[in-house]
Amino acid sequence: MAYDMADLTSHIVLKGRVHGIRLRAEGNAVPDRSCISTTADSATLAGLVADAFDLGRPIGPMVPVRHVSQETWRLDTTSGSVLVKRFWKGPGVPWQPALECAMALEQRALDAGIDSPRPVTPRSPQFGAATHIDGHGVFRAYPYLDHRPLEPEDDLSEWLGDTLARIHQLEPPLSEAPEPPWWYNQSPPVSLAQWSEWLDRGRDGGLIWAPALDRQLEVVRSLSRQVVEVFRDTGPHVRTHRDVEPWNVLMTPSGRGRWRPVLIDWDVAGPDSAPLEAAHVFASFAMLGRKAPDPTLVRRAAGAYGQAGGHQVRPVEGLLARYAGMRLAKISQRIRVSLGDARPASVDPGTADARAMADIEALPRLVADVRVWRQYFP
Ligand SMILES: Nc1ncnc2c1ncn2[C@@H]1O[C@H](COP(=O)(O)OP(=O)(O)OP(=O)(O)O)[C@@H](O)[C@H]1O
Ligand SMILES: [Mg+2]
Repeated sequence: MAYDMADLTSHIVLKGRVHGIRLRAEGNAVPDRSCISTTADSATLAGLVADAFDLGRPIGPMVPVRHVSQETWRLDTTSGSVLVKRFWKGPGVPWQPALECAMALEQRALDAGIDSPRPVTPRSPQFGAATHIDGHGVFRAYPYLDHRPLEPEDDLSEWLGDTLARIHQLEPPLSEAPEPPWWYNQSPPVSLAQWSEWLDRGRDGGLIWAPALDRQLEVVRSLSRQVVEVFRDTGPHVRTHRDVEPWNVLMTPSGRGRWRPVLIDWDVAGPDSAPLEAAHVFASFAMLGRKAPDPTLVRRAAGAYGQAGGHQVRPVEGLLARYAGMRLAKISQRIRVSLGDARPASVDPGTADARAMADIEALPRLVADVRVWRQYFP
């Protein structure tokens, strides 16, 4: 897999920061695996969830699926199986307005026939399809889909191009460029001065990534600037999914040994640059199981995107700004952990230093790579 666990977890921690919320500081920490500690707790919650979503009776416990950014469980009930997701342990989700917008786009996508599970409507919605369960937090449920994860052999390029083009046309383009999303490493912005301050502290503390940052500071600065400028200049900007990644596509059986891709997880839907998202998505899927994107897959996805009415994706300098920005974001997160400024739940503290160093050293290579990859776009 091109995406290892550390990549995944830092992605998710950044996802937690999408609305400028410090999840860990609020006691809604990522991976706090102790929240459902006993069978009795689990049974109670199963009953409450089944009732909240009008699903009859539970016929099993809440079975944890994954707990990285948000807790998810499978729950089997007399009305079928659901995937249950807890957004927040408190009574109200602090980023509710953004989540409501995301849910509205998800709803539009479902109405337009984009393949995605339709949320189960709770008896008493708090907002959208989310409901508050007293003492347990804010939840959502989806029909549970039998599936397998995406594999490098799956060629989804046409589906991807077509699906993204349809998503990009759900709403008219925005009239002006929005703030860059968090994964461009700029919201809240990591200022150029911040990198220098980290360098000073890293040097003082004798941290192993400091000499690397010293050598690559100019690359970091110019890449940071480029990410913001390219984002601003590369329209149209549209409201879109923003998390189309291999782990958010489930391969569901469609009979006779065939598999049908289903897109999940619209929770961070919002404004983005359509061409930059398209470039990132086509490159990242074409990289699954490889060290570099397969140009044929990229071209096929871009072709399908154009055919389905997608926006023009020109091979401009910085077309893969999203990819570069995400790498900068990971580096900054690891540096924060290494300096003790961020709690280590997102990144293994034992490896944060080494991974920061390796990623910083690899930046010139990344800059060279994305220059080559952008030429895969017609
Ligand atoms: N409807 C579903 N049926 C079966 N499994 C599902 C369903 N929805 C989600 N899952 C499983 O739960 C996992 C987490 O779901 P989801 O992506 O919505 O949560 P997340 O915590 O926001 O994820 P991430 O931040 O990693 O993208 C998925 O990767 C998938 O394995
Ligand atoms: Mg997900």
